[in-house]
Amino acid sequence: MIALGSDHGGVALKEVIKEYFDENNIAYKDYGTQADVPMDYPDIAKDVAEKVLAGECDKGILFCGTGIGVSIAANKVKGIRAAHVTDVFSAKMAKEHNNAQIICLGERITGPGLAVEIVKAYLESEHQGGRHQRRVDKIMAIEN
Ligand code: RB5
Repeated sequence: MIALGSDHGGVALKEVIKEYFDENNIAYKDYGTQADVPMDYPDIAKDVAEKVLAGECDKGILFCGTGIGVSIAANKVKGIRAAHVTDVFSAKMAKEHNNAQIICLGERITGPGLAVEIVKAYLESEHQGGRHQRRVDKIMAIEN
């Protein structure tokens, strides 16, 4: 189950990804926002991060105008690794090396076609463990 969330600046790109998920029978939950009405991105970033941490969803995808605001906010939730990605290779590495539970995209940065490819790359990748797990453990130790 994939958790989705956006502010008003990312809601249209979220809809693109929902359409891709619907067409490919990929399960998701949309935690909002639903409208192009200004709202504060830290609120939705916190919601999605907490759903992922609680195990309600395995992974999350957050959207805002740039992807930056939601990534900064989600990374403030202890235990979360949220990667701001703008290309396919980074999306793959975010999972393989960093084991990011969330990726963050910007509607004003990334077009719909590339966004779908980014999401596919992230979801199809697996964490590689080994030395990468050691480094992820060191990241998480910084929180403590
Ligand atoms: C909203 O105007 C915009 O600031 C937000 O979507 C995001 O880009 C913040 O990082």
